[in-house]
Amino acid sequence: MAVRGILALLLCWCAAGARSDRAQALRIMEQVPVMDGHNDLPWQFLEKFNDQLSKVDLNTLNSTHTNIPKLREGRVGGQFWAAYVPCDTQGKDAVRRTLEQIDVVHGMCEKYPGDFVCVGSSTAILEAFQAKKVASLIGVEGGHSIDSSLGVLRTFYHLGVRYMTLSHSCNTPWVDNWLVDDKLDPAKSNGLSNFGKSVVLEMNRLGMIIDLAHVSVKTMKDALEVSKAPVIFSHSSAYALCNSSRNVPDDVLRIVKEKEGLVMVNFFNDYVTCSKKANISDVADHFDHIKKIAGYKSVGFGGDYDGVPRVPEGLEDVSKYPDLVAELLSRGWTEEELKAALANNFIRVFQEVEATSARLHAEIPKDEPIAYDEIKSDCRTGWGYGVPADKTPPNAADRQLLGQGILLLLCLLFAPFL
Ligand SMILES: *[C@@H]1O[C@H](CO)[C@@H](O)[C@H](O)[C@H]1NC(C)=O
Ligand SMILES: *[C@@H]1O[C@H](CO)[C@@H](O)[C@H](O)[C@H]1NC(C)=O
Ligand SMILES: *[C@@H]1O[C@H](CO)[C@@H](O)[C@H](O)[C@H]1NC(C)=O
Ligand SMILES: [Zn+2]
Repeated sequence: MAVRGILALLLCWCAAGARSDRAQALRIMEQVPVMDGHNDLPWQFLEKFNDQLSKVDLNTLNSTHTNIPKLREGRVGGQFWAAYVPCDTQGKDAVRRTLEQIDVVHGMCEKYPGDFVCVGSSTAILEAFQAKKVASLIGVEGGHSIDSSLGVLRTFYHLGVRYMTLSHSCNTPWVDNWLVDDKLDPAKSNGLSNFGKSVVLEMNRLGMIIDLAHVSVKTMKDALEVSKAPVIFSHSSAYALCNSSRNVPDDVLRIVKEKEGLVMVNFFNDYVTCSKKANISDVADHFDHIKKIAGYKSVGFGGDYDGVPRVPEGLEDVSKYPDLVAELLSRGWTEEELKAALANNFIRVFQEVEATSARLHAEIPKDEPIAYDEIKSDCRTGWGYGVPADKTPPNAADRQLLGQGILLLLCLLFAPFL
């Protein structure tokens, strides 16, 4: 009887604790909302609506992790929206499709001006927090999107892009991706090629954040060494807890700490537990681990909502961030540490990236093009490279040959009648 009484008391006490943790989480997030590193809602716009925003109602859309009521419930104050296009666009229509994904984010801000504001600076993020709108930033997810062109990179910056993930899940001519570490792709650049290092330095000069989610470990280390500003992992977790090559190993976490960068924890079950099942406490373990190795100033949130097929129990959609904050409170995280992870760490990194850009801006822009051999294909012309103008691509030449062959055949067939 006594045991049962004590058990009931304990249960009651625990429940009250959980309730007060959640209340405190909401109080903290009233002051500092979450600034998340990666959400793939624009990809859902493409897949479900072919980017026709007129057919989208973000107040009622319920087949996604993200909609306006859920963002408000989740105390989301800032979000990097991914301008993602798959690797099969590489060398084809990657640039056009990336432009369309950038456009659809701007379109979302224009369609819902009371809920989203598209911004491109750290001060504008803080203003959006005050105005209770979701500060909306654009991240290009994958170096294949610039088609090996520094001119395209600069143009993306002008369109509001504020981070680029150096690779997605494919090598580009200048950067190796994470599949190299699993021996699923061959190493090509052994990290960053010389052109890849120019891309990083040009991003520093522009004020575009370098994102190392999806790259190989060698690329992580190269970029951390070359970059003159802190870098982020917009949606990656801790390799020590789940040995997916998408996650960040401890030796890299230590360099991130030294360089005052940021790892924004990915919630995808497969990267959290290396299995199909995960829960909120498994995700909190990644926060604890990164805090232990890199310090609380290098950890943040990068849910990857609407980009993954499985999310943990308790973190079903973007309304659930306060529950994760409550879980971290119950593990002894202080208010200051939580505010750092929620947004202050990211704001600090972004301010440092902006200051680096201001310092470098008088430098001459990088302008050495990638070697023609790295990019020549049927889909490209060789303008500017001094390639002879009459050198038609093989496909066109084939067609010409075929045309001549048919003509010859017709002549032979009809010659007797002439
Ligand atoms: C989701 O939205 C559709 C279309 O508006 C509606 O028919 C359906 O009942 C909604 N489902 C839920 C669970 O709210
Ligand atoms: C991860 O760990 C599992 C089990 O310990 C092992 O079988 C697998 O090979 C490891 N994967 C990598 C990429 O190291
Ligand atoms: C979460 O899952 C882990 C196993 O991955 C389990 O040990 C733990 O009890 C679960 N916690 C909750 C709160 O469900
Ligand atoms: Zn991704």
